[in-house]
Amino acid sequence: MRVVLATHNRHKVEEIRDILAGLDIELLSLDSFPEITEIEEDGETLEENARKKAVAVFDLTHILSLADDTGLEVEALGGRPGVYSARYSGENATYQRNNEKLLGEMKGVPPERRKAKFRCVISIIGGGVDEIAVGEVPGRIIESPRGTNGFGYDPLFVPDGYEITYAEMDSELKNSLSHRARALEKAKDILKSLVSARGR
Ligand code: IMP
Repeated sequence: MRVVLATHNRHKVEEIRDILAGLDIELLSLDSFPEITEIEEDGETLEENARKKAVAVFDLTHILSLADDTGLEVEALGGRPGVYSARYSGENATYQRNNEKLLGEMKGVPPERRKAKFRCVISIIGGGVDEIAVGEVPGRIIESPRGTNGFGYDPLFVPDGYEITYAEMDSELKNSLSHRARALEKAKDILKSLVSARGR
């Protein structure tokens, strides 16, 4: 069975490849389809965005498609930045500006109200297939950045059960517990049953 990942992001492709290793599937990425350009993530929810990307790629390739969308949901901010995580600080958003904006909005918020969670939503779309897998990691937002690994909001997020941020973890540890890993484990189960139902 062939599966196309709706991303050009090499880092994501490698992570997904690692987690799905062992399944009887041939994994392709959008690098095999250079004619497919950026698909706009203009939905109001992570689910909508992930599904939109998977549907678009399936329509163009006719190959079972897997797309993800991730957001950081901060309780004290009513779930923001959420679906707007990538562009939280505006048009010219960078990871650093996003982090600064988040810290600014959280200024003065006491420790017990700094709860947040990362949510990763994966949509799998194919002929007659329309599935969603969700992975969440609860944690908290600290008051100043710590650590240099990873990307995005990693230096500000401490997952429950740990005292270090995602950015202080090596990639092996982060990838073993992350929101994306959790969603991918569920996606793996869905793909596994599709492989056994369809054969190769
Ligand atoms: P995407 O849907 O994977 O592109 O993620 C959207 C945005 O969420 C990214 O631009 C990052 O700001 C943030 N994000 C996603 N995954 C992570 C993560 O594992 N650590 C930190 N930030 C992340």
